[in-house]
Amino acid sequence: MSRPLLQLALDHTTLPAALQDAAVLQEYVDIVEAGTILCLSEGINAVKALRNLCPKKIIVADWKVADAGETLAEQAFRAGANWMTIICAAPLATVEKGHAVAQSCGGEIQMELFGNWTLEDARAWHRTGVRQAIYHRGRDAQASGQQWGEADLAKMKALSDIGLALSVTGGITPEDVALFKGIHVKAFIAGRSLAGAADPARAAAEFHAQIDAIWGGRDA
Ligand code: 5RP
Repeated sequence: MSRPLLQLALDHTTLPAALQDAAVLQEYVDIVEAGTILCLSEGINAVKALRNLCPKKIIVADWKVADAGETLAEQAFRAGANWMTIICAAPLATVEKGHAVAQSCGGEIQMELFGNWTLEDARAWHRTGVRQAIYHRGRDAQASGQQWGEADLAKMKALSDIGLALSVTGGITPEDVALFKGIHVKAFIAGRSLAGAADPARAAAEFHAQIDAIWGGRDA
């Protein structure tokens, strides 16, 4: 099992605040995400600014696209994103259009798994050529008490078996990482527990220590 990557999610409501945290944290993470909240607040400039600030990082446009897959994927990849998210409720046509643009730009689509979706949907996404999904506990669901459980792990395993590389997110802390032992995790996506930490560098180091303890060090 390959070592999971660490992804910084920037869900700030202003670009300067996001860039400040990205500048501090980029050296500790593998992937930098222009989060949905940031992109809705600041638009496509958020993706462009992160690409400029972090030229060597994988950049994610977390737009959770529901329609106009072709147009929005063109916008995201032209702005410098490597990966763009599409919400699981989107029609398959949107996934196909987004994926075609991603391929032509050397990028990838990630399916955002919120709410209702089925393994049949996941097989259909895989048939389009999409190879990534994000298993997501929404922040509102988390705030209303939703915990990670065995049912989540079983669904993650089933998604992996279909051939989708899974990133995991939703209020993830370093202490949560061990819950996912046994799962092929592409990346742990953390926003508030990194950008909101009193000592962000130390929080990132704790994530890496937990990941190392289970999946081995970066050179393993
Ligand atoms: C919300 C998101 C967030 O970017 C993701 O959940 C990571 O943020 P946090 O670790 O703060 O939950 O996609 O829809």
